[in-house]
Amino acid sequence: MARIGLLTGGGDCPGLNAVIRAVVRKGINAYGHEFVGFRYGWAGVLAADAMDLTNESTSGILHRGGTILGTSRTNVFKEENGLERVQDSLAKLRLDALIPIGGEDTLGVAGKLSEAGVDVVGVPKTIDNDLAGTDFTFGFQTAVQIATDAIDRLHTTAESHNRVIVVEVMGRHAGWIAAYAGMAGGADVILVPERPFDIEVVCDHVRRRHARGRTFSIVVVSEGAMPIGGEVYGRDVAKDAFGHERLGGIAVSLEAEIEQRTGYECRMTILGHVQRGGTPLAFDRVLGTRFGVAAIDAATAGEFGKMVALRGTEIELVPLDAALDEPKLLDPALFETAEVFFG
Ligand code: F6P
Repeated sequence: MARIGLLTGGGDCPGLNAVIRAVVRKGINAYGHEFVGFRYGWAGVLAADAMDLTNESTSGILHRGGTILGTSRTNVFKEENGLERVQDSLAKLRLDALIPIGGEDTLGVAGKLSEAGVDVVGVPKTIDNDLAGTDFTFGFQTAVQIATDAIDRLHTTAESHNRVIVVEVMGRHAGWIAAYAGMAGGADVILVPERPFDIEVVCDHVRRRHARGRTFSIVVVSEGAMPIGGEVYGRDVAKDAFGHERLGGIAVSLEAEIEQRTGYECRMTILGHVQRGGTPLAFDRVLGTRFGVAAIDAATAGEFGKMVALRGTEIELVPLDAALDEPKLLDPALFETAEVFFG
């Protein structure tokens, strides 16, 4: 029997509650562990701000989006005496281990804590699906479905008005959401961070469609996409505690550029946080549940300094560092398949 702390860090993601429920349910029923959940990610750990997690308090949450624990982008190692404060909190709450659920930043902190002797098992999450070490993260499928539904809706209005519509989706380093939602929604052009674009080539795709008698087009763009030789569209606000710029807005300039270069009427839609909200799809609930069960099994077996991962169809344990290498970029073969339908 052990006392274990859970936390969710970074951007929220549909499926987080499935992980929390699974860790607690298996941990209590199979192993007799006790759990606390830290509020608002690492901020709660630094402040020893935690609530008891029981079968009762984690029931009825499987289908709910967001995270019952709250989340933040707090960086322990940017805070004064961060490591000592984390160690004090763990001692005060008599915790034997931590299960942080998060992306590269949250798991990066977990990796450093692990090196400092804290027992951790990580659970990878991001709607962007760009974490190395795992084939998929939960939340991604839900975000893709939301974006696909939006593209379907934009299609009918684009067609009615003979317009080009630019749809901006999330995807900071990698174009997974754009590629999947673009393919599923029948996009005529998909722009991703991995492949800087030439605006004239984008316009040529649109012109080619019009020459064939199609009077509307859908362009899907990742927030992290950039023109050849250009830069990513950061916004003029302070960076977060992990040094990330706030992205968003490339669709605004694409709308103007495409309209001006082609002469076709153009509109843009930025989906933004709609993609992270609401009910998780079944796939993400199941993956979150499998991750949660595997994480508590690993913690119970003393497999620390690792994270759970989906490899093919199996859940495996990989070193925490595996998530901290370079981001997992789009498979070029997938993009080449999407490109068959451009223009
Ligand atoms: O990391 C996931 C992500 O959804 C990115 O695609 C996006 O740039 C970022 O989070 C937005 O984060 P925030 O909620 O802090 O605005």
